[in-house]
Amino acid sequence: MVLLDGKLLAKKIRDEIKKRVADLKKDGIIPGLAVILVGDNPASQLYVNMKTKACEDVGIYSINHRMPFEVSETELINVIKMLNNNPMVHGILVQLPLPAHIKEENVIEAIDYKKDIDGFHPYNVGKLLRGNPLFYPCTPYGIMKLFEEYNIELKGKDVVIVGAGNITGKPLASMLTNEFATVQLCHVHTKELQEKTKRADILISAVGRPGLIGEDMVKEKSVIVDVGISRVNNKVVGDVDFENVAKKVSYITPVPGGVGPMTIAMLLYNTVKAIETSGF
Ligand code: GUN
Repeated sequence: MVLLDGKLLAKKIRDEIKKRVADLKKDGIIPGLAVILVGDNPASQLYVNMKTKACEDVGIYSINHRMPFEVSETELINVIKMLNNNPMVHGILVQLPLPAHIKEENVIEAIDYKKDIDGFHPYNVGKLLRGNPLFYPCTPYGIMKLFEEYNIELKGKDVVIVGAGNITGKPLASMLTNEFATVQLCHVHTKELQEKTKRADILISAVGRPGLIGEDMVKEKSVIVDVGISRVNNKVVGDVDFENVAKKVSYITPVPGGVGPMTIAMLLYNTVKAIETSGF
């Protein structure tokens, strides 16, 4: 069994970005990322802090907008409009989820698609689906980079993704399809999940339910990617029963230290890329 070491690969990517940022600075360009956090969800606060710290580490300028839970959709959209027009800001990230009184779709559509480093804007989702992307969403992008680094063949492989969300499952299905994998996207209403996961050459779980993927659900010598992040007895765990599944498969991501650090590395990558797209 080989560990898909996201921490190690993320460090490599971050070191490359650091060099690129230093070169850009010689030309007088400082990449800028605006991060908006609404409310005080502890997990979101933690993620946002990790993202801004990662920016600092590579020399990306980051602006933090913290807004109270009660903020109106209009006020939030007004801040986004201001950031769309700010030449210091190349990328805009609105941390999700948002409070229920704010329509996520309206907020995402307010972001200038050229600054949409999360790749969530319908324009970018459409570009990705057509196989001509501008920005790849960070988590699936990080997973694709892990496959590339470990020379995991995708063409013709049977891939099962559990979790059909907009952040990971759906964009990842597009990206893998673009590489000619045969993808099955499963969700809460999927019948006979185990029958499907057991046939997967590559199994990706992005649900957030500890213990969802047990040893009896995976094929021998398969590749397992665990996107789940949950807290159990003050420990961070994924969806996969790592201890037992790891004995049976050929590659597996750990949690923590697998997909999580890759998401942040690709966010930094997209922010630097946004210098070419943002028009400034
Ligand atoms: N919430 C969970 N994952 C993400 C992400 O990748 N981007 C944003 N903006 N919010 C998230």
